[in-house]
Amino acid sequence: MTIIVTGGAGFIGSNFIFHMLAKYPDYRIICLDKLTYAGNLSTLADVMDNPDFRFVKADICDREAVEQLFAEEHPDIVVNFAAESHVDRSIEDPGIFLQTNIMGTAVLMDACRKFGITRYHQVSTDEVYGDLPLDRAELSFTETSPLRPSSPYSSSKASADLLALSYKRTYGLPVTISRCGNNYGPYQFPEKLIPLMISNALQDKPLPIYGSGENVRDWIYVDDHCKAIDMIIHKGKVGEIYNVGASCEMRNIDIVKLICKELGKQESLITHVTDRKGHDMRYAVDPTKIHNELGWLPETKFADGIKKTIKWYLENRKWWEDIISGEYQNYYEKMYGNR
Ligand code: NAD
Ligand code: DAU
Repeated sequence: MTIIVTGGAGFIGSNFIFHMLAKYPDYRIICLDKLTYAGNLSTLADVMDNPDFRFVKADICDREAVEQLFAEEHPDIVVNFAAESHVDRSIEDPGIFLQTNIMGTAVLMDACRKFGITRYHQVSTDEVYGDLPLDRAELSFTETSPLRPSSPYSSSKASADLLALSYKRTYGLPVTISRCGNNYGPYQFPEKLIPLMISNALQDKPLPIYGSGENVRDWIYVDDHCKAIDMIIHKGKVGEIYNVGASCEMRNIDIVKLICKELGKQESLITHVTDRKGHDMRYAVDPTKIHNELGWLPETKFADGIKKTIKWYLENRKWWEDIISGEYQNYYEKMYGNR
């Protein structure tokens, strides 16, 4: 079995590669990644010399490079993690989100049609459903909920989902889609809430909460997401969408207070800053379908997962300190300087 994993030098893709190489010693895993600001080769250092693994630096929008890789490797399965993934960046500059997240998905699926595969899996997000109100705790999104994305990022992901479903219907491409909630765990780029707050707290820098901090996200430990994708590509039904979530809703402010407590830092570091434009209030996905059809259940409780995550950032300071010592400084000043 040969699997191309796109975006495997990023957060979830790298964790997926580690999971697959450990679980399936007879599989060949190829990572195709452009190495944008979010992609980090040091993340893959432990598997670079693994004979079952190959890294290829390429853009999923580059048709020639993608087709060349397919011609060389003849993959059975393609799992597409490659994306511009940060909502705040999409608000600043949507163009690259449309290019990578929509056009890149089309290029990959065209190569799948041309060379033939047994499965194309699109890694999508719960953000395609838009948000829910804070005062209706009984509501959650199912796979049949309408698509109502709020940001350029989530609109580009919803577009890619629609394109994938159209390739299934029109060309018979064997497509599956997963829509997962907010992931946390090792190797997450420190622009996202949890790693940003951990790294800022460790440097005694202000912890910038957008608006009131009452916004709710549905958190899942990254390994549980990877295991869900593993199940979907092996046992999931072609043409189906699977929501993935650990039913773990938390307010941003409570997460940041918990991080302060775990690190022994004062809550006075918390600073309320100007809210994100169009900020989604609450996400919650109903994972009943993947549980009933594939037997998937999350294994990591938030209380344990957040401790493991904090421990990882404490023990791997070089990984994130290298990131925040470079271009990240300009990003941080631009996004937070006058907030
Ligand atoms: P990430 O930003 O950490 O990593 C993205 C990776 O894609 C990077 O390695 C980057 O170099 C690569 N990439 C970007 N543009 C590329 C291109 N044009 N060609 C090839 N590679 C390219 O993202 P993540 O948080 O790991 O998310 C991975 C996927 O999962 C995304 O599709 C995202 O929409 C989805 N998702 C993320 C979450 C989350 O909480 N992080 C939740 C649900 C779904
Ligand atoms: O729900 C899945 C999505 O989760 C994925 O599709 C996205 O790729 C991923 O980035 C994530 O999107 P969010 O916008 O929910 O994640 P982020 O970590 O950027 O923000 C989480 C919440 O924290 C959100 O309500 C905004 C808030 N926040 C974020 C940052 C970076 C702050 O209050 N301060 C911050 O500095």
